Amino acid sequence: MAEQLLIGGTWRDGAEGNRIDVFDPATDELITSVAAGTPADAVAAVDAAAVAQKKWAATAPRQRSEVLRACWQKMMDHSDELADLIVREHGKPLADAKGEIAYAAEFFRWNSEEAVRIHGSIGTAPSGAHKIIVHHHPIGVVVVVTPWNFPAAMITRKAAPALAAGNSIVVKPPRETPLTALRIAELMGEAGLPDGVVNVVPTTSSGAWFDAAVEHPATRMVSFTGSTEVGRILLRRSADRVLKTVMELGGNAPFIVFEDADIDAAVEGAMVAKMRHSAETCTAANRFFAHEAVVEEFTQKFAAAMAAVKVGNGFDAGVTCGPMISAKAIDDIASLVDRAVSAGASVATGGGSMEGPGHFFVPTVLGGVAANSPITRHEIFGPVAPVISFTDTDSMIAQANNTEMGLAAYVYTTDIGQGLAVGERLESGLVGLNRGAMSDPAAPFGGMKQSGLGREGASEGIYEFCETQYIAASW
Ligand code: SIN
Repeated sequence: MAEQLLIGGTWRDGAEGNRIDVFDPATDELITSVAAGTPADAVAAVDAAAVAQKKWAATAPRQRSEVLRACWQKMMDHSDELADLIVREHGKPLADAKGEIAYAAEFFRWNSEEAVRIHGSIGTAPSGAHKIIVHHHPIGVVVVVTPWNFPAAMITRKAAPALAAGNSIVVKPPRETPLTALRIAELMGEAGLPDGVVNVVPTTSSGAWFDAAVEHPATRMVSFTGSTEVGRILLRRSADRVLKTVMELGGNAPFIVFEDADIDAAVEGAMVAKMRHSAETCTAANRFFAHEAVVEEFTQKFAAAMAAVKVGNGFDAGVTCGPMISAKAIDDIASLVDRAVSAGASVATGGGSMEGPGHFFVPTVLGGVAANSPITRHEIFGPVAPVISFTDTDSMIAQANNTEMGLAAYVYTTDIGQGLAVGERLESGLVGLNRGAMSDPAAPFGGMKQSGLGREGASEGIYEFCETQYIAASW
């Protein structure tokens, strides 16, 4: 198991010899510990990345493309081993972990195909006086900060386009799930990535680590996935050096069921939108708006599906919801449920946490939730689904948009015209129409409002890691 820092192609301990304990959230048992980096290690990693980036940027796009494709192949060849690591340190069910590895690896394959298609343009100025040549340079060293909910995919979604465009990266993986990150970095080296292009430095002192990394003059960009709260802090710190940032932040997704929807399909979609990856996703449906004509049928069938979910250790057969990441996560979810119930919601199924060891919460559906209940204003990040009844489409859309978040939204209707029209009115970067999952490396992922800045995936994702240069030329 890779358990040290990776800096400039060398595996080593942190400057102060500290370690990070990694726990299994299903048992609360210690799995192992990894080296903890200091701010000085972050600086050493940026130094190494700056040297490696110049050479990497000078390689032919075809060569970068082939290395990225080899990274995809390596991940697929080791998918069982990587999925096992994810289940151990994150807890999600094995099938979700395998799905995550395929999703994560696909960012390498997609971007290997894009690496040879980073095109600019040439045109004539309206005055006819000169030519306008536009092309794209790599931006330089990128600091990548990732969350624990997708220990593999949130790294590759940033690393693959950054490397395709000719950048180098310094990754701070989350302290909860560093093992997958370190192993993927090791596999990338085996796939032919030159030393120093990818550096991984887990740490226990995130704030000081980040300050040291962004104050380094070679750092040119920050790419972050995590909460809006932390995103705001990183944005403020990045502003001092006017660094480019891409931010994938929190969500509060509405899931809308119209009266003409196929209710069984809506329940199936709701289960995916709420429960994929143990309900710990930023795109998770957080507020379910069902038309009053179908709210009872939808709530009843949804509650039955949630009650049938097997909760447990992600390695156990039939388990489709693993543990939450920590005891604090359980307390936060329980407090939201209690406050919703105090505000008048009824419990259709579930309602509380389970006996330990491990951090488990019973899949819960709440009925009769008031549109302004506290639970509708917070990202739940757990297996709890508040259902709100609506009659008027305009007021429901106003409620759905009544949040500073704007990452994902879901609409179920058999009237596609209505679905598209409502989708356009939702202030959300991603809309699933009769679908409970949208994530795809070939599609632009990102939020409106305080859910983020910039997009990851698709060709948009690669241009985020480029500087645009314009040359005015006469000949
Ligand atoms: C996230 O929760 O941040 C990512 C979700 C996804 O990629 O599907």
